[in-house]
Amino acid sequence: MNSPLKHPKLALAPASPQFIDQYQQTAPGRAPAAAVELAEGLNAASATVAPKYFYDTLGSQLFEAITRLDEYYPTRTEAGIFDAASGDFAATLAGAGIGQPCLIDLGAGSCAKATRLIPHLQPRQYVPIDISVDFLREAAEQVQSTFPALDIVGVGMDFSAGLALPPQVQRDNRVFFYPGSSLGNFSPVEAQAFLQRLADPAQGAARGLLLGIDLVKDKATLEAAYDDSLGVTAAFNKNVLRHVNTLLGSDFDVHQWRHMALFNEAESRIEMHLQALHNLTVRWPGGERRFRGGERIHTESSCKYTVASMSALLRRAGFKQVSYWTDPKDWFAVFWASA
Ligand code: AVI
Repeated sequence: MNSPLKHPKLALAPASPQFIDQYQQTAPGRAPAAAVELAEGLNAASATVAPKYFYDTLGSQLFEAITRLDEYYPTRTEAGIFDAASGDFAATLAGAGIGQPCLIDLGAGSCAKATRLIPHLQPRQYVPIDISVDFLREAAEQVQSTFPALDIVGVGMDFSAGLALPPQVQRDNRVFFYPGSSLGNFSPVEAQAFLQRLADPAQGAARGLLLGIDLVKDKATLEAAYDDSLGVTAAFNKNVLRHVNTLLGSDFDVHQWRHMALFNEAESRIEMHLQALHNLTVRWPGGERRFRGGERIHTESSCKYTVASMSALLRRAGFKQVSYWTDPKDWFAVFWASA
């Protein structure tokens, strides 16, 4: 075939990011570990499945769809703050003496948020990290094609289990980027321990942290954000059962479960549950669990903070300077915390 290109091979060879898969590398040990964790959660008096199991490839795609829903205000509200304050972020980093940071994107997903920040922060290295490895690999390729000269090291890992980053990730000028209020999926005690690891010079070695946090607001707005009219969040929640079937070998039937989202005011958190529609038994190799009709599996908590409560948490975790930006309705806050 005649090609109009003189050097078709050169023209077709895009730069590729480095990619280190610390999650699937350990697959022989990980698969049983996930099965043990899932079986323990299902056998608990109040059954649970940890929210990290939402994110197989379909779960990551459903989450991307959630971020575009009318009811799910956090993503667009945070994006508005980023657009308004990106220049401030760059000035804040420069003021803290952090030039050309190593930008470490925790739970990067599609990398869409960092893609908007990169032109402002001008990182020397960009390190997107996610547990949804195949989804991240594609996203990192996309970022590389947008910024061909940027040093990108994609890392597949479960960072909730520890922060041992590969040696390819530079140690100096590390700025962690943790947007989307994903910290809220930890309990406040777990969140503080996680932030302490980030700030610890022997572990995360963060010079600073740019953190997106959803703020407490009226119950109706919160509950609608987690129970949308199109049923996308319901599909995201039920998809965890398909993922559990793959990892555990269980026989969950998604038709037998109902999605529920409720705001627990005492704990300041949205809770997502799956509720059994009738009495049923779920079986897996070496175990089973009987559920009565109406019984629930707790699949996610999404803690909501005030500016004061999150500032205090960051200080308790060892961050010394804390500043923040909010949107006009005070629905969401982006914090800058330096170690
Ligand atoms: C990823 N995380 C911050 C989302 C949240 O809002 O807690 C996950 C989510 N669950 C339901 N909708 C979105």
